[in-house]
Amino acid sequence: MDQSPEPKPGRLLDRPLDPTRLKVEIEPADYDMAPLALEVLVPGQPCPVDLYLPLADKGKVVMTPACQKGEEFRAQWRDRLLAAEQRVVFVLLEQTQELNEYFQEMAPVIMDDPGRPLRNKAMVVQELAVLNLNTMFNAEEVTPKVLKKTVERVQQTVQRITATPQLMHNMSTILRTDYSVYTHSVNVCMLGMALARYLGRSEAYVHAMGVGGLLHDVGRAKLPRALTTKTGPLSEQELALMRTHPLLGYQMLAQVGAVPYDSLMIVLHHHENADGSGYPHGLKADKTPLPARLARLVDAFDAMTSARPYKDAQSAFQAAATMLQERGNVFGADLVPTFVRFLASPFITG
Ligand SMILES: [Fe+2]
Ligand SMILES: [Fe+2]
Repeated sequence: MDQSPEPKPGRLLDRPLDPTRLKVEIEPADYDMAPLALEVLVPGQPCPVDLYLPLADKGKVVMTPACQKGEEFRAQWRDRLLAAEQRVVFVLLEQTQELNEYFQEMAPVIMDDPGRPLRNKAMVVQELAVLNLNTMFNAEEVTPKVLKKTVERVQQTVQRITATPQLMHNMSTILRTDYSVYTHSVNVCMLGMALARYLGRSEAYVHAMGVGGLLHDVGRAKLPRALTTKTGPLSEQELALMRTHPLLGYQMLAQVGAVPYDSLMIVLHHHENADGSGYPHGLKADKTPLPARLARLVDAFDAMTSARPYKDAQSAFQAAATMLQERGNVFGADLVPTFVRFLASPFITG
């Protein structure tokens, strides 16, 4: 890891920042770090972990200490970073456990604060979920213990979304479009829960959709990182390996025990197509469990409406048009019109 001890923690943010030094592209996992949205930190409170900023220095990127654990995080620092269009800071993966505990403590305070905008509350829930998945996907090895902890936290996240019903309205303003497997999983969770609510399903069903959404791509954690982060076209062989992720995820989670059956079905069958051309089992629509078919819809919708390094985000309208075209073979003619109505409902448009 390339971290310079200079300048002294805290000092960096006491001066105006040079925005040109901040304009760097990094893969945080290469530094054993994870990004954290700035808005979730509470100014005036001691910082729960060390914070870093990537700064360009003579053609190299140096992860520079910005605030030390225990030091008061100042509102002025946050404003200075936001003014420089820096929306995230970086935290060490080894400290994410402490950050989690801090958020567990702070979450009720944050969620009950009437002065805090809903968007910000949504951000705290999302950020926490992203952090959990990040920790698991970047763990040295996904041991049963790591997995069990992840599942526990996933359940907590879903409960938190359920406890704040407004989070499931006007989602077009809170869904994240900066694509990663983590933000994608959080979007699939929230959209899936809202869709199940829209369809009048039970609370247990809504919960299972949320847990399944957060965990649907968990099998990717078992695949080589070079493959899961590859942006170019995949070879035949690579594609075949990628397509093992539903089964891998199912096998991992079936051992944990605490995962609802419907959530397991989402993990296993979220790539089945209505005409039987999907994977892993090539099930047709009438044989695919409904939660998995609903997850298939929100999964595809989120992929279409998020930006990737190799493509721009489509609008919800464009995505709906594509889905209507492919309703017969991929999603099933019975579900797509309902899904399009859901997209136009207050759950999405507010
Ligand atoms: Fe998937
Ligand atoms: Fe997915």
